[in-house]
Amino acid sequence: MTGESMEKFELDPALSEEIRRRVFGDGFIKIVQNVRRGGSSFKISLRPVSLGGEVKYQAEMTDAGKVQVRNFNRPDAQAGLEEIISQKGARELHLICSDGDLHVRVTKKGHVLASRSGKLDRPAEIKPHDRVKNLPLSSFDSSALLRVTGIADGSGNIRASMRGKYDQVNEFLKVVDSLALKPGKAEGDGEPPSAARPFIVVDCGCGKAYLTLAFALYLTQTVGLPRVKVYGVDRRDDVIESARKMAKSLDLEDMVEFSQSDLADFQLDKADMVVSLHACDTATDEALAKGVEWKARHILCAPCCQHELQKSLAGLSTGVTGPAAVFGGLLRQSILRERLCDILTDSFRAMIMRILGFRTQVIEFVAPDATARNIMLKCEYSVKSGQSGPVNEYLALRDYWGVTPWLEGRLAGILAKHLERYA
Ligand SMILES: C[S@@+](CC[C@H](N)C(=O)[O-])C[C@H]1O[C@@H](n2cnc3c(N)ncnc32)[C@H](O)[C@@H]1O
Repeated sequence: MTGESMEKFELDPALSEEIRRRVFGDGFIKIVQNVRRGGSSFKISLRPVSLGGEVKYQAEMTDAGKVQVRNFNRPDAQAGLEEIISQKGARELHLICSDGDLHVRVTKKGHVLASRSGKLDRPAEIKPHDRVKNLPLSSFDSSALLRVTGIADGSGNIRASMRGKYDQVNEFLKVVDSLALKPGKAEGDGEPPSAARPFIVVDCGCGKAYLTLAFALYLTQTVGLPRVKVYGVDRRDDVIESARKMAKSLDLEDMVEFSQSDLADFQLDKADMVVSLHACDTATDEALAKGVEWKARHILCAPCCQHELQKSLAGLSTGVTGPAAVFGGLLRQSILRERLCDILTDSFRAMIMRILGFRTQVIEFVAPDATARNIMLKCEYSVKSGQSGPVNEYLALRDYWGVTPWLEGRLAGILAKHLERYA
């Protein structure tokens, strides 16, 4: 076809074919097209990503500042590429491949100018496991996740106000990495590896779903688990509504499910992992209790504010007898009382989990400058339950302070038989 017989703005067949061949051939990295429309612009990019072990094509569309991300299989991506190629109007197209780049500029008058870089030798294979492993959020292509959740701005830079959350999510995922979950195996109940059953995670008090969405991508793309289901539960309907929109725009609806519910009312038969990041007060206890009831092998809870015990201990500052009454001077100071209650609450939690058969470590999962609430209870169901040592230690501390920790009451049905044996 000659230049005369072609319409203005149209790419010639050889150029169109080169784009198709390079996008769906080896070494494709990314294609980006910027279309100028009056004063604004519409940008679309397409890149290969590995999702659940399959190659998909991730399209990111930015229209008047609004970003939408979708993952497509190959036929749909091919249809999308045809739309990119046949786009009308002034535009710029940049095709990035391992062996070099192609730039196409279509001017306002409809002239098509193509130029190519010299030969390059860049790595292009999609290998989520081989990416930089230092930060979990760099171990897979997290650009869309970070932008959609608002952790990063439109240029992909981490917002200063979100640096703490970015660090918390990264460090939380590092703890997951330390668990060495095995691809192809849904853990937790001794069942044989099953491709049919997904690895189930519940994020309790998920809030704006930073962690929930990151979990889905990290477990599939970096850890390489074949099937994953992540539930995000929060009692606030506004955060659940926006979390659902984010999951949709990241094309994660099959993998992530959000429920607007109080944790206590959220029902499930089984989970492999239960997590919570700063679930308020007794919501952390509820997350631990649910993890026990759902027979989760792994429970990772980073607690938040803790008020429950403070109410019980406040009384000890004024004339209460018993060994703990010597703490009166400490307990009268509200800041010191708060810190002591945090420590005692987490100690009781860790001891109860140990009694119930969870090897429990209390760790600082993130540096204190990312959050003052940087403690995590890392529990793995791997030891014998009801052993006398842990039970006696628990009873001694509990009775010294003369309190009944909230978690003991919540799990009374399961705990009582262990506590009564030694009481
Ligand atoms: C401090 S925010 C943390 C949110 C999120 N995990 C994060 O780190 O960004 C605590 C969240 O827990 C939720 N929450 C607290 N108690 C809850 C309960 N009993 N049931 C369900 N959600 C709860 C709150 O609505 C809130 O969204």
